[in-house]
Amino acid sequence: MIVDVYLAPDELDEALRADAYRGLTATPKHLSPTWLYDAHGSDLFEQITRLPEYFPTRTEFALLRAHAADIADMSRPEILVELGSGSSEKTRVLLDALAPHIHTYVPQDVSEPALRAAVKLLTVEYPDLTVHGVVGDFTASLEHLPGNAPSLGSPGSQGRRMIAFLGGTIGNLVPVERAEFLSGLAAILRPGEGLLMGAGLVTDPDVLIPAYDDAAGVTAEFNRNVLRVLNRKLGADFDVERFTHRAVWDAENEWIEMRLEATADMSVRIPALDLEVTFETGEQMRTEISAKFRLDGLGRELDAAGFTVRHEWVDRHGRFALFGAVRR
Ligand code: AVJ
Repeated sequence: MIVDVYLAPDELDEALRADAYRGLTATPKHLSPTWLYDAHGSDLFEQITRLPEYFPTRTEFALLRAHAADIADMSRPEILVELGSGSSEKTRVLLDALAPHIHTYVPQDVSEPALRAAVKLLTVEYPDLTVHGVVGDFTASLEHLPGNAPSLGSPGSQGRRMIAFLGGTIGNLVPVERAEFLSGLAAILRPGEGLLMGAGLVTDPDVLIPAYDDAAGVTAEFNRNVLRVLNRKLGADFDVERFTHRAVWDAENEWIEMRLEATADMSVRIPALDLEVTFETGEQMRTEISAKFRLDGLGRELDAAGFTVRHEWVDRHGRFALFGAVRR
């Protein structure tokens, strides 16, 4: 079992401190969604994927199943790299479809516990496959991916790669970050290598908002959990129960924002940042953006980054798309 930790715990903590300081001293306040995914947060996200209101995961799963053979044919990869792999649940469909050619699977995730569990299971389920986990932030770990540079790759990690970036996580990035990230992907791929990307599409807010504000309150717990992470990691004293979950559709930017709203005036101490921040009743702090796309718009972004889009697979309700592209 191979798991490389390129983002060592202290580097992750340093990134958390820097981001929390920047976000908590900004107006309005914000936090990066990266910090939602500690062990508990990753578990809560798995629960979200099974909620009746949260359609993206099962919609994407159906698209993967329906088009697995075409995905395999697109670039005939020997190495599958999955960014933000989480529990790697959807990946099994891909691994099975790619089976004749693929020899290595490289899951990458910011959550070390989730990644270790996935690598362990897959190693047992796919004994002929080399499974090489990479712990890191998906925007920061591109240069560490096996097969990227000969010196970094083990002998088994040479071959044609396909990067899978599923679930719609591309929507966590704002447009300038997206452009930079997609160019970064293109820069590490060789011509002809593949990219498979899942993206949520702009759809009816009456369908979209409940997906991010479910009746059972799991998303609310997921959102508030970021405050528990700050309490544990930075010694902060957020009174977690005094923050309410909000999911807001921003029609102009075409993204969902998750926010935490203070239900009282509060003063929060964050010893690790040597910082004290105040919240006014009703004040909202952004904890995630989840952008939704139009086919032509994201197609153009992929093209501008250096990819040729070969396929756009869309569900019958037009809520989710899988883009199949190759590096030009
Ligand atoms: C894991 C980023 C794809 O944006 O839909 C789910 C995270 N946030 N519910 C998404 C999430 C609230 C999810 N991604």
